[in-house]
Amino acid sequence: MNRFDYHFPVRVHFGQGCFEETLQQELTRYGNRVMLAYGGGSIRRTGLYDRLVTILHGAGKTVTDFGGIMPNPTLKKVQEGQQLAREIKADLILAVGGGSVSDCCKIVATGGTPIPLGVVVTASGTGSEQNNGAVITDEEKKVKGAMWGVFADFAILDADLTKTVPMKQVISGAFDTLSHCMETYFGHPHTCNLSDRINEAVQRSARSELMWASAMGENGILKLGKVTDFQCHMIEHQLGAYTDCNHGQGLAVLHPTFYRHIYHSAEKKFDRWAQEVWLVQHAQQAIDALEDLINEVGLPTTLADMGITLADDTIKAIAASTVITPGCCKRLTPDEIEQILRECS
Ligand code: NZQ
Ligand code: ZN
Repeated sequence: MNRFDYHFPVRVHFGQGCFEETLQQELTRYGNRVMLAYGGGSIRRTGLYDRLVTILHGAGKTVTDFGGIMPNPTLKKVQEGQQLAREIKADLILAVGGGSVSDCCKIVATGGTPIPLGVVVTASGTGSEQNNGAVITDEEKKVKGAMWGVFADFAILDADLTKTVPMKQVISGAFDTLSHCMETYFGHPHTCNLSDRINEAVQRSARSELMWASAMGENGILKLGKVTDFQCHMIEHQLGAYTDCNHGQGLAVLHPTFYRHIYHSAEKKFDRWAQEVWLVQHAQQAIDALEDLINEVGLPTTLADMGITLADDTIKAIAASTVITPGCCKRLTPDEIEQILRECS
């Protein structure tokens, strides 16, 4: 394993039905002005908004709404949130939603003096509540890129709150989790190490314990002593910058083709993955099995399935603007990324 420093500052509350009690406990730590951040309206439809406001008022808090955070949150939305948080002198930002709400608020909380952040997870997959990275889209520059924000002070993972997530989103979130594990697994070093042993277990369990698998994918444990890969994510993010597509679905389309392009550069590691995760012998069989799983669960397998047709100059622009990661076993060129995108069409 490579050397590492590890510090994990998030208080994680996990368990079905833990939401109310743990939120009440957490609220006692903060001042009275709470900025309640959420997405496009699911929390109102599900009744969660009313439950939250009751808890917040019960704890003597003043609530200011910051709603309408969109999937693939934009820099503009972040700036709007920063301005509001400053205006109301927020003592706590309470982010309630999936990765998009959490990501947006991690950056909102950095504006000026950092503001404490709490996350109530309503859709799992990204594991965003576990780290201080955020993926924000700069619409003008056409870049969907990583920014560093605050770590949440606390995160509440109550699977009861995810029961209303549309099945399509549940599955794309689950695939995102699997992707995070794979993207970490195929980073360096390729020799056997404890992080990868744990990773194999998470990949195999991802279907039965989605919410904790999602957290494990991004809480840093699988990344200890490793340089991660995340090249497929970089391609997907730029695909997202140009098409505003769903993240997990974009990954599902790209992964098998991407792996067929790179596995020769790390054949031993891919064979191990085949044997330990997919219970087959060779890399190619495992990539086929991954593709079968994608089909089986109804995820898209081509860009056309996602309703996306890329013009030639868009393919070139996506390829040219994709970040090349140091941890990928093969250093991709823009030409090869173009080829991958064409094969995925
Ligand atoms: O906006 P609302 O109305 O709340 O609806 C959301 C949204 O439409 C809905 N939803 C969430 N919880 C629900 C619910 N609907 C019903 N009941 C509930 N309980 O789900 C839809 C998708 O939500 P979103 O937050 O966009 O999904 P996800 O969690 O997949 O987050 C995607 C974003 O996270 C970024 C992605 O790039 C994308 O922008 N990522 C963040 C990462 C990180 N910070 O570590 C890592 C990932 O690789 C990823 O890039
Ligand atoms: Zn992801």
